[in-house]
Amino acid sequence: MNLSAFASVPPAHAHPGLFISFEGGDGVGKTTQIERLSALLEAAHIEFRRTREPGGTELGAQIRRLLLHGGQVSPRAEALLYAADRAHHVATVVRPALGRGEVVLTDRYLDSSVAYQGAARALGPQEVRDLSLWATDGLLPDLTILLDADPAVGSARAGARGCRDRLEREPDAFHAALREEFLVLARQEPERIEVVAADRPVEEVAAEVAGLVERLISARGTSAQLKAFRAAARLEA
Ligand code: TYD
Repeated sequence: MNLSAFASVPPAHAHPGLFISFEGGDGVGKTTQIERLSALLEAAHIEFRRTREPGGTELGAQIRRLLLHGGQVSPRAEALLYAADRAHHVATVVRPALGRGEVVLTDRYLDSSVAYQGAARALGPQEVRDLSLWATDGLLPDLTILLDADPAVGSARAGARGCRDRLEREPDAFHAALREEFLVLARQEPERIEVVAADRPVEEVAAEVAGLVERLISARGTSAQLKAFRAAARLEA
């Protein structure tokens, strides 16, 4: 199968919604930041859908269990399972919501596969990216927020949360390679991926995230959405 045909960027903005992904190593605070942004969108009465990978669908929840709490998974099988989760998630949740004009916030998307399976597992970032683009029929986020922090910060937070999953127990070198790969991806696609320093107080990070989303809405959303989002962000500040 020739996957490289899907490596090219899909037609820009083929849907009326806004697709935003959050990425980063384990424990960098994605969940907290997604919650903060969700609260802003809710206050602004902007329709949104919050979701995650792996596990954003019923099928995905089963795949998630296999991946994170099952036995050892060989690297190629792991990459294919994440891609299968993503294919089903995009087809049944993400694209329909974007088609209805909603904002979709996903906790992880294809950059996680490229960084975790492609680089940190040495499968080859381009092949893993092509596999994901095939799985999703070429859907890339409109904005990717990369929460970046020293792996020691994330690891302390993940440890404080109690039980660690299979990937969180990986050695330090794995997490260092992961961070580096995410930063490489951000350098390769600066128009899509925004790096936000995550080793700062939650409020500061949230304000920067809100600014990035405001810019996206101003470029791609309606003027009513922009006005409402700005008003909600001002109240929050
Ligand atoms: P999760 O508990 O969601 O971690 P986090 O809170 O850090 O996002 O577990 C998801 C794990 O799966 C995480 O360690 C990253 C990994 N992962 C991949 O390896 N490849 C992928 O494509 C995705 C989406 C996640």
